[in-house]
Amino acid sequence: MSATAFLSEPSPGAFTLAMMRSPARIAPSILAADFAHLAQEIKLIEDHVDLLHVDVMDGHFVPNISLGPPVISSLRGATNLYLDCHLMITDPLAYLEPLCEAGANGVTVHIEAVPDPSAVAREAGVLGLDFGLVINPPTPVAAVEPYLEIVSMVVVMSVHPGLGGQAFLTSALGKIAALRELIDSHALATDIQVDGGIDLRTAASARAAGADVFVAGTAVFRAPDPVRAVREIRTILDRM
Ligand code: DX5
Ligand code: ZN
Repeated sequence: MSATAFLSEPSPGAFTLAMMRSPARIAPSILAADFAHLAQEIKLIEDHVDLLHVDVMDGHFVPNISLGPPVISSLRGATNLYLDCHLMITDPLAYLEPLCEAGANGVTVHIEAVPDPSAVAREAGVLGLDFGLVINPPTPVAAVEPYLEIVSMVVVMSVHPGLGGQAFLTSALGKIAALRELIDSHALATDIQVDGGIDLRTAASARAAGADVFVAGTAVFRAPDPVRAVREIRTILDRM
């Protein structure tokens, strides 16, 4: 029986497993923020969130261009939050050092961009960056399975990368559950992050499937009251 099955059927065993699960963490994506007022947008929510998700796009791995090391450096000066940098770029190895110097804490790299991520993982380790791998909607969990022991996080994309404001793809849920099972059966501490289309309803589904870290852009920064939006997501996640 899977860990998620235990959690959905309360029993003494489920209680023990639930106690062992890492607390849910919320990572707002600044992609949905007003780039002209980034510092103010972040200050507003920083005491209520766990990480800040920073989407780096190169106009090549994905069609859009977003931001890079200079903006990350400014963010570093504006907040002490953990900067979780999602690299939607073709050549992550070339940018790890500038990202580290800019103040990134962790980087996640697409397995579709770097089919053998060993060298990037090594370089991240040398620089002291946390390292994670991301899988796109069509990419199976098997693509990252060989690397579960060398990553601190696996990110399951629940939208196609490159754009905020898209609808959550429910096909992500089965992948999260499969990863949860793999990670738990090997007693690994690897976190599962879910990225894209997260709101109150989809956050609950992803938590039930086994996710640990919840990236929400639109649902936080486009909400009339971003602090309230974060609190509501946390209330739902903490109840599970
Ligand atoms: C998509 C990005 C996501 C996105 C999430 O390429 O990786 O982080 O900003 O934003 P929402 O919550 O709007 O889907
Ligand atoms: Zn992202």
